[in-house]
Amino acid sequence: MKLTLQQQQRVDALLQQMTLEEKIGQMNQLSPSLVGGFDMSFEEMIEMAMDGRITQEELSEMFSKAERDYREDDIRKGLIGSVMLQDPDKYNELQRIAVEESRMGIPLIIGLDVIHGFRSVYPIALAEAGAFDPDLFQRTARMAAKESRTQGISWHFAPMIDVGRDSRWGRVSEGPGEDPYLASRFAEAKIHGLQDGAYEDAADGTERRENYVAACMKHYVAYGAAESGRDYNTTSMSISQLHNVYLPPFKAATEAGAATAMASFNDLNGVPCTVNTYTLRRTLKERYGLQGFVVSDANAIRECIDHGIAADRYDAARQAANAGMDMDMGTSIYVEELKNAVERGDVSMEVIDEAARRILSVKMWLDLFDHPYITDEAKHRYDKLPKGHVDLTLEAAQKSIVLLKNDDHVLPLKKEQKISLVGSLAANPTEIIGAWAMSWKSEDCVSILDGLKNTGAAVEYFPCGGPAEEINEEEIAQAAAYGDVIVAVVGEYSAMSGEASSRADTTLPGKQRELLAKLLATGKPVVTLLMNGRALALGWEAEHLPTIVEGWQLGIQMGNAVASVLFGDYNPTGKLAASFPYVTGQLPLYYNHPSTGRPGGKFKFTSKYIDAPFEPVFPFGYGLSYTTFAYCDLTVKETEDALVACVKVKNTGEVCGTETVQLYMQDVTASLVRPVKELKGFAKVTLAAGEEKEVVIELKKADMGFYNNDGVYVREDGKFRIFVGGSSADTLMQELDLAF
Ligand code: GLC
Repeated sequence: MKLTLQQQQRVDALLQQMTLEEKIGQMNQLSPSLVGGFDMSFEEMIEMAMDGRITQEELSEMFSKAERDYREDDIRKGLIGSVMLQDPDKYNELQRIAVEESRMGIPLIIGLDVIHGFRSVYPIALAEAGAFDPDLFQRTARMAAKESRTQGISWHFAPMIDVGRDSRWGRVSEGPGEDPYLASRFAEAKIHGLQDGAYEDAADGTERRENYVAACMKHYVAYGAAESGRDYNTTSMSISQLHNVYLPPFKAATEAGAATAMASFNDLNGVPCTVNTYTLRRTLKERYGLQGFVVSDANAIRECIDHGIAADRYDAARQAANAGMDMDMGTSIYVEELKNAVERGDVSMEVIDEAARRILSVKMWLDLFDHPYITDEAKHRYDKLPKGHVDLTLEAAQKSIVLLKNDDHVLPLKKEQKISLVGSLAANPTEIIGAWAMSWKSEDCVSILDGLKNTGAAVEYFPCGGPAEEINEEEIAQAAAYGDVIVAVVGEYSAMSGEASSRADTTLPGKQRELLAKLLATGKPVVTLLMNGRALALGWEAEHLPTIVEGWQLGIQMGNAVASVLFGDYNPTGKLAASFPYVTGQLPLYYNHPSTGRPGGKFKFTSKYIDAPFEPVFPFGYGLSYTTFAYCDLTVKETEDALVACVKVKNTGEVCGTETVQLYMQDVTASLVRPVKELKGFAKVTLAAGEEKEVVIELKKADMGFYNNDGVYVREDGKFRIFVGGSSADTLMQELDLAF
């Protein structure tokens, strides 16, 4: 986010005219649909309903009343700076009050969770990251920005860029997986996609301001390290771990110009991220140079009382403001407490001025002062989705699908085959969306059943069971009788991942394994398609199922994308952005782990389990194609400031295919134990059958270091290994000594 000099001067002039109350008002976000909009905590309300003090009807009335309470008077008084909203008519109404009826006429900034698409919903991030395609990441984000801005939404609570290594945690679905490097490339691409429309005229002739929004990188920071994978749980780690694993995507996003950040719910090394001066003020603002502002997560400032770090609302507000938290989401705690805190000297005027300046700067950069309203034309521009948007959601979905097994080459299917489509998820037109999408329309959704039917193939649907359904033996018999092949769609409901959706058992929920066993027992070929929001524990499936496709939750075009892959019209190219365990007990599980002094192996006294494998069943970076690729002749040359890896890749199969060539590094001996592998680059190569190409990937020497426990980035001379291959577990290797 870059302001012009004139914009900066306008912000300065505004600040000089504002009262203390008006400055604090900018730090207040109204989130009517969130718990925080209530005078009591969620738990207290539920308790009142549970012990009968209020009826269920009264409880839901309290909720719906709060959702309708837009506190117009507070907006008129300049006490609200932002509203969470997705109603374009209500937007113009509230904006008019703020701009035309308040003393300073400062426009509201409207924020919303637009995580993987607005109306044109594309794959959940955990899936899209597996495309290993920054250009795609950027284009999908730009599409979301364009669609949402016409509805008055100029601030996305996205991208979610938390590294996640424990798939018990439901929010792994929202983020770009387990690897800091891939997560960083994803993060910066999303920031550019959401924001860079500010600096270029749109190709479609729309107003420049309608082509960008303010991003909000979240959840800052280390939220994905929640102990036991339980959401909102405590996190603790070394400073080097924080800087090497969890901070890199936020550093990359800030360098890409991220306008805002959202602090995370978790406490980190004993200090909640909402009031953590080290992460907020010292690191994000001073070290990384965040230009915009930080917003709390919902209700999180008040929850510092529950954390046990704040004695009361006053103390929570005081600590948060002083730590660098610029805006309160949902509790009104700043508006109620900060004026008093300034008058008592507990919070300085500089802190208030800094927060207000940061917030006004983002609003100015968004061009909200000169164009606060949305026109009728804009409001209806995407009533019918443009073909380009639909095509992009299809492209993103296709590139996110991962072929895990195809032992008997049952795939690709032939158009003349009769298909028995099985599983309740297969016909469900909304489960394809995934968690954290709220602006889609069911008329745009293509279920798996729709997608297969769209190919003209002979497809009959037999529910047979699902994540929560009983098995129907009769329908299994019918499915076996009808189809030459059974396509079984199994997985999770989208409500089983996302926020507050941690699972202690990450196998296929319900009786789906039993269903698969019964389908196998029919003797018909079974193709298993997974629809899920986390890296499931697939030990049994990998052993018993000959054909497995990871379909994730791919958004509105999922059905057509899956059909194009199953029939071979699109040769799968996706890779895994997360390691899949055999059993849940292996978690947290990730490829970039330290060696230990006794690396797991056959000998008893090594790091492993006596009752399960210790490796992943499907590793990070893994994904098959309908063709095969062979790697040879890896060479690594040293230049002054880089290593240049060259490898030959040959298509040794029968059809054209695209491979994602991955480059990993190991710092073999260092002053801290380092991972056995770290992803440091990737490149795609498309090869016709029999074709061979040389692929070159460069690794800058500046990127070969790590952060020590003082948070200092160091590069140490010594032996390094460079690995190149089509997955983290299948590589060629070269060793070399380096002196930086
Ligand atoms: C939620 C989520 C956060 C979201 C916010 C507003 O609790 O943690 O990701 O942006 O509230 O909906």
